[in-house]
Amino acid sequence: MHIVNTVFDLREAIKIWRSSGESVAFVPTMGNLHAGHLHLVNRAKKSADRVVVSIFVNPTQFGVGEDFETYPRTERDDQEKLEVEGADLLFLPAVADIYSPDAKTTVTVTGLSERYCGASRPGHFSGVATVVCKLFNIVQPDVALFGLKDFQQWTIIKTMVRDLNIPVEILGIDTVRESDGLALSSRNNYLTVTEKKVAPKLYQALGIARDAVLTGNQSYADIEQQAHRFLQQAGFQTDYFSVCRSHDLEKAGLDDVDLVLLAAAKLGKTRLIDNIYFSR
Ligand code: PAF
Repeated sequence: MHIVNTVFDLREAIKIWRSSGESVAFVPTMGNLHAGHLHLVNRAKKSADRVVVSIFVNPTQFGVGEDFETYPRTERDDQEKLEVEGADLLFLPAVADIYSPDAKTTVTVTGLSERYCGASRPGHFSGVATVVCKLFNIVQPDVALFGLKDFQQWTIIKTMVRDLNIPVEILGIDTVRESDGLALSSRNNYLTVTEKKVAPKLYQALGIARDAVLTGNQSYADIEQQAHRFLQQAGFQTDYFSVCRSHDLEKAGLDDVDLVLLAAAKLGKTRLIDNIYFSR
């Protein structure tokens, strides 16, 4: 696996592949790789001839008081995992390689970015959209893969790609879970041993709500209320729990068929997000 730190070196490596007609899949990450990321790399290998992975802890998507400074940085471990998984190239830029100090351009997918996670993390999704847009311009992949645990992020990126005519196919890949249902996330490392036992109840709450929808409960507001109560009793502070239509994340109506239940809740100091998508 090649490891490059600069945009110039990355482009030189990709140019060689392109000149022999090879296609490129891209998996952007912030590192601290777990089985969920490696699953993306594995799927990427099936989608193109070459796989590029980036590790960049993007400062612009962290708000004031969030965990940018303490976000786990485990580059050596990550490199080993990517070697084993068979990635072709690891892009490891410094902040100065990605952002010039006098940068004046950002990307915001309006509306969608201010709801759900965007409401409690103002500016977060502009940071995500901006860095992903820049990374797409740098790597120019044929296909890019994102985990569906971050369903809102995936929807925002698909919308940005559509609106800005970025020539890349966006794939959403199913969430990888622990055997108890907890969605894998780098932030699970922040959970205490006791919290780790409670954390799967977030997925359990989503499952109960999905079953309520599927068995014909027509009051989505009631279903959301019940989920809030369930989570509160389990020890969570719920941020949101919403029955949405999956294509644009608007509140679902009774005519909508393709749904996603979006949830975010804090357990102690750790904010967890998860979702379930299904058709009625
Ligand atoms: O999902 C993530 O890890 C990040 O938000 C991403 C897409 C790599 C952008 O920094």
